[in-house]
Amino acid sequence: MMELYVSTMKINHLETTPFTDQRPGTSGLRKKVRVFQQPPYLENFVQAIFDTQIDLKGGTLVVGGDGRFYNREAIQIIIRMAAANGVARIMVGRAGLLSTPAVSAVIRKYQTQGGIILSASHNPGGPDGDFGIKFNIANGGSAPEGITEAIFERTQAINTYRIAEEPDIDIDHLGTHTSGEMSVEVIDPVDDYAELMEQLFDFAAIRELVTSGFRLRFDAMHAITGPYAHEILEQRLGAPEGTVINGEPKPDFGGGHPDPNLTYAEELVAEMFGTNAPDFGAASDGDGDRNMILGDNFFVTPSDSLAVIAANAELIPGYHGRLKGVARSMPTSGAVDRVAQKLGIECFETPTGWKFFGNLLDAGRITFCGEESFGTGSDHVREKDGLWAVLAWLNILAARKQSVAEIMKEHWAEYGRNYYTRHDYEEVDSDAARGLMQHVESQLAGLVGQQLDGYTVSYADNFAYTDPIDNSESSHQGLRIGFTDGSRIIFRLSGTGTAGATLRIYIEKFEDDVAQQAMDAQLALADLVNIAERFSELKQRTGRECPSVIT
Ligand code: G1P
Ligand code: ZN
Repeated sequence: MMELYVSTMKINHLETTPFTDQRPGTSGLRKKVRVFQQPPYLENFVQAIFDTQIDLKGGTLVVGGDGRFYNREAIQIIIRMAAANGVARIMVGRAGLLSTPAVSAVIRKYQTQGGIILSASHNPGGPDGDFGIKFNIANGGSAPEGITEAIFERTQAINTYRIAEEPDIDIDHLGTHTSGEMSVEVIDPVDDYAELMEQLFDFAAIRELVTSGFRLRFDAMHAITGPYAHEILEQRLGAPEGTVINGEPKPDFGGGHPDPNLTYAEELVAEMFGTNAPDFGAASDGDGDRNMILGDNFFVTPSDSLAVIAANAELIPGYHGRLKGVARSMPTSGAVDRVAQKLGIECFETPTGWKFFGNLLDAGRITFCGEESFGTGSDHVREKDGLWAVLAWLNILAARKQSVAEIMKEHWAEYGRNYYTRHDYEEVDSDAARGLMQHVESQLAGLVGQQLDGYTVSYADNFAYTDPIDNSESSHQGLRIGFTDGSRIIFRLSGTGTAGATLRIYIEKFEDDVAQQAMDAQLALADLVNIAERFSELKQRTGRECPSVIT
């Protein structure tokens, strides 16, 4: 007998108008919370996702965010709109929480048609802070430019959005609900991710380490990694309670700036560089994709961290015997290149931005990749992954039974040390910043072979990249001056800054004499910094005497 099904869901078609500022950047669409709170700003963008991502109709969508202010409200709107747009199933992290790498892991594990991440990464939150939305595709990675452009174009053309007249879903308890005809599964935000970590790392060895007097501190900065770190480090690995600090996610991140670097992770940095410091310290950012690794009075640069993980891959069960290749963004130091060379594996240099690793990961050409901006990851997901990097280090520490400093020093002795620093000049006048870049670029031709304070230039160009998998080209990715001794100076304008321009100057110097490897990085690089500042007429053009942030 044929069953006649009559839908009881009421769908409203509400009016919307194009917003000219909805072109997503490399990390999705980011604006002030107050902008997103004004209907139909969020609705317009979400409808554009449903209109262009047709596989979502009848498919499964993952939704979660870093818990920042407006996360919960946005999730309820997205659930109602998904129901009205024919999504069959939506998976939501409990309390609306899911870290960026966890969304990637869940999409891949359940083979969903994509996911929506609500986050503005490390930008401050709260009612006056930032909010953001990003669509990830079925491989678990950020949507490539073709898709974000299509979404943007759609935001410019639509005039109505669809939303079901349904009550709010209880997202605070695990279980399956319905919104209209769509099934809503509230999932544990940590379980699937923690299970993946257990498959990759030697949890037994790490457990033995962290329960045998080794002192570990993890700063979740009142952001998303709190629940993950409590469960993985304290529960599953047995680290003492109190190992995780600032572990409760707060809508305003406790008023802080959840960016794991030497400036913003103040509490952790003070402890790790104090007397009687723990053996290992780490922090992650707002949405859990960045990481900072510290030892007792020791800072591991993200570039070195990537190199150490690659060099020690054989000690990590999930990577044993299957290291294919590695990749780093262009401004990231060449430390990992030296490891790749020794191991006889491929090493790729990509433009800044995690999306450039996607094709290489999907094609199985690389296993590890990283950026100098505190991003490290592997082929286990398609986002950088903060806690993954922490567990990789703990696994290596457990296997080698040495301190962070000892591991780093042995690494430098074997491969040489790439001294490295990044100087950021934030909120520089946009015209002045552009002028400076033009001035630098205009001097590049004819520079090869010339000497700058005793350093001989071996190449000078504006970095361009051809993707080895799909042959797509990306040009103007940063001005590089390379020297014959392996030193480099790079000038780049940030693509993520919100006020004025952010100028980044990256400086690197290679040192293979062990006796010269224990210097302070700023001291070791002082002459190259000087060259960079003079060559770019930095002070005259920007009026700045010193950088806003030094990493
Ligand atoms: C910054 C980092 C870059 C990273 C991006 C997103 O971009 O430098 O490595 O991929 O944030 O986290 P930038 O502001 O330099 O364009
Ligand atoms: Zn982030």
